[in-house]
Amino acid sequence: MNELKWLAFEVTPKCNLNCIHCRTNANANLNEVLTYKQITQTIEDIDRRYKPVLVLTGGEPLLRSDIFEIAAFAKSKNWRVGLATNGTLVDEKLSLKIKAYFDIVSLSLDGSTAQIHDNFRAQEGAFDATINAAKLLAKHDIPFIINSSFTKRNQHDIENTYKLAKSLGAKSWYMFIIVPTGRGENLQSELISKNDYYKILKWHFKLELQEKTMFIRPTCAPEYYAIVDLYTKTHNVEYIRRSLSFSTGGAKGCIAGQSIAFIAFDGSVKPCSYFLRSAGNIIQNSFLDIWDNSPIFQNLRDFSKYTGKCKTCDYISICGGCRARADAYFGDYLAIDPYCLFWSKNAGK
Ligand SMILES: C[S@@+](CC[C@H](N)C(=O)[O-])C[C@H]1O[C@@H](n2cnc3c(N)ncnc32)[C@H](O)[C@@H]1O
Ligand code: SF4
Ligand code: SF4
Repeated sequence: MNELKWLAFEVTPKCNLNCIHCRTNANANLNEVLTYKQITQTIEDIDRRYKPVLVLTGGEPLLRSDIFEIAAFAKSKNWRVGLATNGTLVDEKLSLKIKAYFDIVSLSLDGSTAQIHDNFRAQEGAFDATINAAKLLAKHDIPFIINSSFTKRNQHDIENTYKLAKSLGAKSWYMFIIVPTGRGENLQSELISKNDYYKILKWHFKLELQEKTMFIRPTCAPEYYAIVDLYTKTHNVEYIRRSLSFSTGGAKGCIAGQSIAFIAFDGSVKPCSYFLRSAGNIIQNSFLDIWDNSPIFQNLRDFSKYTGKCKTCDYISICGGCRARADAYFGDYLAIDPYCLFWSKNAGK
């Protein structure tokens, strides 16, 4: 039986920003669909068997008026609870309330300057507000993670963004290579090239070997684990994997539907936050029933169902390929990940 270890719950599609890549197509005019009761009943349903880390996300979760009550309900079940926010609404008073209800916070920072971040977030002033949030969280000793998303337009700024995250006191820095879903679908032409993806992952691995204070890991870049394996073998490097805080998967590649899941704002249940297809809906079915019995979840756990090169790949269990990217490119979530590195004879060099 696959244990649910991490659950992202999109409690609202409403957002004060309009980011160019947003998987949810979030904006200020959307309304919440799920009631407090539907959300807490789902937590109760899951609690019969699992106590996953719960991340309340959106949209912008701080726009939901009962966000703290939802967090308190999950805490009453002894779940660890995180808040995924763009940070722009966090002020002194709110930061203290966040401290009382959440174990950890993630902030999004998509560049090291206002010009780069605000362009990505389609909002002037977003950078200053998020930096202010990071400073408030640090001041009040609230552990926080920084998530940074990249396309061609800001990939030149990856290293500076990492340095800024570190200087702000983030506990972890997670680098996201965007998945073309939601508004991200319009960014096909500016997705990081395969060649650059490979270079960035190698750069990241060398950085990870040196980084001793902050936890860092590329997120939703499952090929990283194949690169780590190849690089450590060809370079005789010792790599001790550190356990990460509130990561979606520190130990291996894609874990969509294997130990993580996502519930979207309309109740649809997906194997991860970027997956296109729904496996069922908590408004009609129990989450555990979907987790156990939906063909999508079952197929993702059975590598013999994977197609193309993934089916026979030695790295299937440590990489697994991004299933959301495979679906977005090939219309088949079991197909090869278009970013698969085995096209490159330089792998591991
Ligand atoms: C959807 S947001 C919700 C929480 C909050 N509004 C925020 O921006 O942090 C959660 C994270 O997903 C990232 N994200 C959104 N769309 C994405 C996509 N298409 N591919 C990869 N990451 C994405 C965001 O940059 C953010 O770090
Ligand atoms: S990525 Fe986050 S901040 Fe940006 S529009 Fe989507 S939900 Fe809002
Ligand atoms: S399918 Fe892709 S986006 Fe989803 S968890 Fe796997 S690697 Fe990440």
